[in-house]
Amino acid sequence: MLIGPVRNRLPETAVWTKFRRMLIARTLSDLRQSCARLRLQAGALALVPTMGALHEGHRTLVRAGVASGAATVASIFVNPLQFAPTEDLSRYPRDEAGDLAALEAEGCALVWLPDVATMYPPGEATTIVVGGPSERWEGDARPGHFRGVATVCAKLFGQVRPDRAFFGEKDWQQLQVVQRMVADLLLPLTIVGVPTVREADGLAMSSRNRFLSVTERATAPALIAALRTAVERMSSGMPVPGCLDEARLSLEQKGFDVGYLALVEGATLVPIDRPQLGARLITAAKLGSVRLLDNIAAG
Ligand code: PAF
Repeated sequence: MLIGPVRNRLPETAVWTKFRRMLIARTLSDLRQSCARLRLQAGALALVPTMGALHEGHRTLVRAGVASGAATVASIFVNPLQFAPTEDLSRYPRDEAGDLAALEAEGCALVWLPDVATMYPPGEATTIVVGGPSERWEGDARPGHFRGVATVCAKLFGQVRPDRAFFGEKDWQQLQVVQRMVADLLLPLTIVGVPTVREADGLAMSSRNRFLSVTERATAPALIAALRTAVERMSSGMPVPGCLDEARLSLEQKGFDVGYLALVEGATLVPIDRPQLGARLITAAKLGSVRLLDNIAAG
């Protein structure tokens, strides 16, 4: 169903703004029709894949798409394939009305809201397994997760056919996995990484932050503080293992259950033992029942 008018022409320099009404597609045929029209009008399409429950981090991705001059399409799909049976898919926050209002306010041109049967029709038999950057870290902690992410992203790219797609650096490993897949499969789009958006106290924005208790929320910024301190120490010449141990200990003392905290090569996620250009310090740590991910540049 299309709600909102189909525009005829865009002025040459125009991007979609909050003054134009956003289109909504819930079926593949509506999506294809709207994408074709937007491509004709704007010359290029940007995609922001999301699972909804949008926050300022997602809004920043949409703004980046709009600022790139493309008609920006946001998808909202809580992808069952990237959740393990032990992970509570039904607990994932959903707020369609709030999401649509936020997307429209940011100048999003089209929202793609597929259902599970559209994304995973009966009888289909193909999934995408990316090696390399999928291995280790989140790959170990959440077996099958990146297979789900890569598969859904490949489908979204095939459905929308964007010229570029925007992903947050907050999920650094995911960004590298998607980049790897696009490069390996020669998919005709550019992946754009957008710096992590943080709360005033440094906590990386995430849809899951809402599950932190008041006390946990007050403790949570210690995660980025520990990463920043570790990078400072590494830059001043302290050996990497000592910096990592110190950071881990300080987090554990504050009540974090640290899954991993590692210095890695940015694109491959392979652990390294000294800071270098493109290196990343990555971590996942649980506070209560909430698993927080963060990372910063370390070279
Ligand atoms: O980062 C997310 O929200 C999801 O992993 C993504 C990229 C939308 C795929 O479902």
